[in-house]
Amino acid sequence: MSYLMSNYKPLDISFSKGKGCYLFTDDGEKYLDALTGVAVVNLGHSHDKIVKTIKDQAEKLIHTSNWYRIDNQETLGEKLCAASGMEKVFFGNSGAEANEAAIKLTRLYAHKKGIENPIIITAINSFHGRTMAALSATGNDNVKKGFYPVLPGFIHVDYNNIDQLKAFSKNNNVVAVMLEPIQGESGVRIPDANYLNEVQALCQKNNWLFILDEVQTGMGRTGKLFAHQHDNLKPDIMTLAKGLGNGYPIGACLARGEASQLFTPGTHGSTFGGNPMAAAVAGSVLEIIEAENILDNVNTMSAFAKKLFLQRLEKSSKVTDFRIKGLMIGIELNHDPSSLLQKGIENKILINITGNTIRLLPPLIINESEVCELVDKVCNLIDEL
Ligand SMILES: Cc1ncc(COP(=O)(O)O)c(C=O)c1O
Repeated sequence: MSYLMSNYKPLDISFSKGKGCYLFTDDGEKYLDALTGVAVVNLGHSHDKIVKTIKDQAEKLIHTSNWYRIDNQETLGEKLCAASGMEKVFFGNSGAEANEAAIKLTRLYAHKKGIENPIIITAINSFHGRTMAALSATGNDNVKKGFYPVLPGFIHVDYNNIDQLKAFSKNNNVVAVMLEPIQGESGVRIPDANYLNEVQALCQKNNWLFILDEVQTGMGRTGKLFAHQHDNLKPDIMTLAKGLGNGYPIGACLARGEASQLFTPGTHGSTFGGNPMAAAVAGSVLEIIEAENILDNVNTMSAFAKKLFLQRLEKSSKVTDFRIKGLMIGIELNHDPSSLLQKGIENKILINITGNTIRLLPPLIINESEVCELVDKVCNLIDEL
């Protein structure tokens, strides 16, 4: 009997060690990790520099309080703003918390304009987290089931459909549009080339805040540090988590312009958010991404993986779509692939299944031979389905 609540349904396997792209069980079995704890351990397991940062910081100081200046947090904030063109940052501990901060900023933005019942437009099939506001923003009824009433103030439109957004231009209660640059949880949905630019233009025209949830796409996952940098975009608010701490919990809500000035002392907070340890680790993550040319590796390995996958998959009658941006990969099938999770374990590879799509989020440090192994194992799984 397990004493854990039943909100997860874990596979019957446990890992005791990780190194680079691999996880190991106690009996020494080795598994290729193409999930990275859902786009988290981007720099691989037990990265030497991350381990050193954690050890060094643990010996110095783990936690104080945001009631005192936290120098590591100041340094990290400066680095993140320099890298993103944003102006201010709030640190929490997760993606959902980062999005809660974004939603709260939007409420303040609206109330300042005298709008009492503000609306944020988000997308159908989006995922923004499990806390009540993030859940309300999420465009997936399955994750809301049992938790109604959700928060008012969210309208969901089709992703990648600019006309549906334009139709709200005359609605004076709308104050923001909140989107993922690529929808991750719903199976790596990449919008058309111009979509996000058109959304930004519409937001500027209507004085709506343009919020990008980069919790999954950020920190190099798509081949740029932030996915919106592929399109030369400038969101008003951007949220981060997952890869920001490479497994150490930290989330961030960054803002620029008016949105960056809305929190005043006492309006928002988090006991742990951006504590000395979390901020030190995230600072190391940023340094490693630069020092080890991680973005170059993502782009090179992405092109290599794409070539290999397409060679193997073009012969498959089961594959209906193949989507890739950086190392965010979705392979959509005309078969229910849910049995592949367990079959993956039997074949020593960790993957993710979402709907009819196999989602792969391998570490950003993956090399050519590991990509070959990934493609081979995943394509064998599809062949056997
Ligand atoms: C785009 C996006 N936003 C928010 C979240 C929620 O993040 P967390 O689980 O850290 O709260 C996720 C998690 O999968 C996500 O993919």
